[in-house]
Amino acid sequence: MRHPSNMSALTISASFSTSKQAVLLEGDCLKLLSKIPDGSIRLVVTSPPYNLGKSYERKGDFEKYLSWQDKVITECIRVLHPEGSICWQVGNYVHDGAIVPLDIALYPSFAQRNLKLRNRIVWHFEHGLHCTRRLSGRYETILWFTKSDNYLFDLDSIRVPQKYPGKKYFKGPKAGQYSCNPLGKNPGDVWVIPNVKNNHVEKTWG
Ligand SMILES: C[S@@+](CC[C@H](N)C(=O)[O-])C[C@H]1O[C@@H](n2cnc3c(N)ncnc32)[C@H](O)[C@@H]1O
Repeated sequence: MRHPSNMSALTISASFSTSKQAVLLEGDCLKLLSKIPDGSIRLVVTSPPYNLGKSYERKGDFEKYLSWQDKVITECIRVLHPEGSICWQVGNYVHDGAIVPLDIALYPSFAQRNLKLRNRIVWHFEHGLHCTRRLSGRYETILWFTKSDNYLFDLDSIRVPQKYPGKKYFKGPKAGQYSCNPLGKNPGDVWVIPNVKNNHVEKTWG
C-alpha cells in the first residue's frame, strides 16, 4: 500500500454516486466534503491533526487551527444524515508545556449546532512519551455526537463478557435466574486498546 507522508485521506461511507458500500477518496477533507450532498452520510469517524507539527501538518496559531476544525465540523454536520453519528477522536494540543484537551476546545463547535453528546469515550493506552514535569499522558478521547434522538446504537453487537457470568438471584421472584445479561455487558466508556509505537515488535509497516 502506498503511504507518502504528505498523503491525506478521508474515508467516507458513501451513498452518493456509487453503488459501492465504501469508497476511499484522497485529498483535502474540506474540498472532498464540499462534493458530498447534505444529509447523505450515516457515520463520520475521524482523528484530525492536533496542531502539533507532525509530518502531515504545520503547527500554527491555535485560534486558526480551531477555526479550521470548526469549518470541517460544520461540513461534517451538513453531510450527516438526520439519524447519523459523528465520532471525533483527539488528544491534547501542547504549547509551552501547557496542555489543551482538544475535545474540550472543540465541543462548542458541535454543541452550538445542536448536536447531542452521547459519550465521551476514554481511550487508555500504556505507551507514549515519558513526561518529566507532569504526569505522562496515557489517554485520548472520542466524542460521539448524534444529530437527533433517533440514532443507531446496537448494544448487543458490542457486548463484552460479564465479570461473573454465572451469577444468579438468590432470593425473590427471580431466584435462580441469571442476574446479569447472558449476552454480556455494556462495554462502558473507557476502552483499553494498546497503541503500537515505532520500535514495538507488533509494528509491521511504515
Ligand atoms: C492525528 S492523524 C490521525 C492518525 C490516525 N488517527 C491514525 O492513527 O492513523 C491526522 C491525519 O489527518 C490527515 N490530514 C491532515 N490534514 C488533512 C486534510 N486537510 N484533509 C484530510 N486529511 C488530513 C493526516 O494525513 C493524518 O493521517
